[in-house]
Amino acid sequence: MTIAIEIGKGGLGAGRACPAACNPKHPLPERRMASRQEDRVTTASVTAVRSVDLAVQDLEAAKAFFTRAWHLQPVADEGGIAFFRASGPCFHVLSLRASASGPALLRINLQAADRSDVTALYDRVCALGQPTDGTPRALHGPGGGFGFGFRDPEGRNFAVVCDVADHRDSAVAADRPTKISHVNLNCRDNDASFAVLSALGFKLSDQTRQFRFIRCNSDHHSLVLGFNDNTNLNHIAFEMPNLEAVMRGIGRMRDHGHGVEWGPGRHGPGNNVFAYFCGPEEMPLEYTGEMQQVDDSYQIRKPEDWRWPPGRLDHWGITPGPSARVKKAQALYQFTDDGYRLEG
Ligand SMILES: [Fe+2]
Repeated sequence: MTIAIEIGKGGLGAGRACPAACNPKHPLPERRMASRQEDRVTTASVTAVRSVDLAVQDLEAAKAFFTRAWHLQPVADEGGIAFFRASGPCFHVLSLRASASGPALLRINLQAADRSDVTALYDRVCALGQPTDGTPRALHGPGGGFGFGFRDPEGRNFAVVCDVADHRDSAVAADRPTKISHVNLNCRDNDASFAVLSALGFKLSDQTRQFRFIRCNSDHHSLVLGFNDNTNLNHIAFEMPNLEAVMRGIGRMRDHGHGVEWGPGRHGPGNNVFAYFCGPEEMPLEYTGEMQQVDDSYQIRKPEDWRWPPGRLDHWGITPGPSARVKKAQALYQFTDDGYRLEG
């Protein structure tokens, strides 16, 4: 498998002048400074999946669900957009707004370390020819920040941000999600999607017959790219503190009329425990926990390395596979056409 992106090549962008580091006419200190900047261009990477922004038809019902059943906490409500945090530091992990045209996924928000890295990643996106909503800039919505939005080759919307006013009171709570664990995306052209995300620093952890699992930090995966016939959302996974919290979450969801659609179980790639649900407006959701922690010494395994015995789809094998309902839900949510244009 060859990835046709050379990380760092995109840093100059079309029409930019050659940097001082490669021009002997520039004095040495300036060349050294430019060299450090080039190092940053080369090493800049997304460091986390921060949050997802969604549209729903019944905003009040969805707000009630994510507060009472899913156990997120409202943190801001501005311009008709409701923001929810988990127990971790991210200002928000989920936002909801009303849409008469039906539920949809607006965008996935990615973290970068600082403004220099955001700008380096912007240059890479531009070099790949992907549409953006303009140069990185200060953002003025709740939480603020600095960043830009872009579309990927299959029409998904992303933002890359830093300097968001994150919370200082993060603390693990026994029955609340801590953060976004991962987002699973259906792909028609998995190679094209993977190429762009590789340029942003994502690395392959494992590949099965159905999925590429890719990481941007020590979590085994923060995004999953499917091999499918559509480019819609497969599911959004929220990390719970441990197996006990996942099990209690299953019970709480059942209390609120959302029975588990697959699980509990323990996945192969990532070794994380899981439970899948259909949330409001059939939103495909997962509680997960105990994600495998990896580093660059991790050995990538291939589809032939991931084979289950007949009748098995996970390590435990205590429940049947995904329900027909959740399988259908895992292709319902499309990205909006303009969700890469950031508010504020
Ligand atoms: Fe998942």
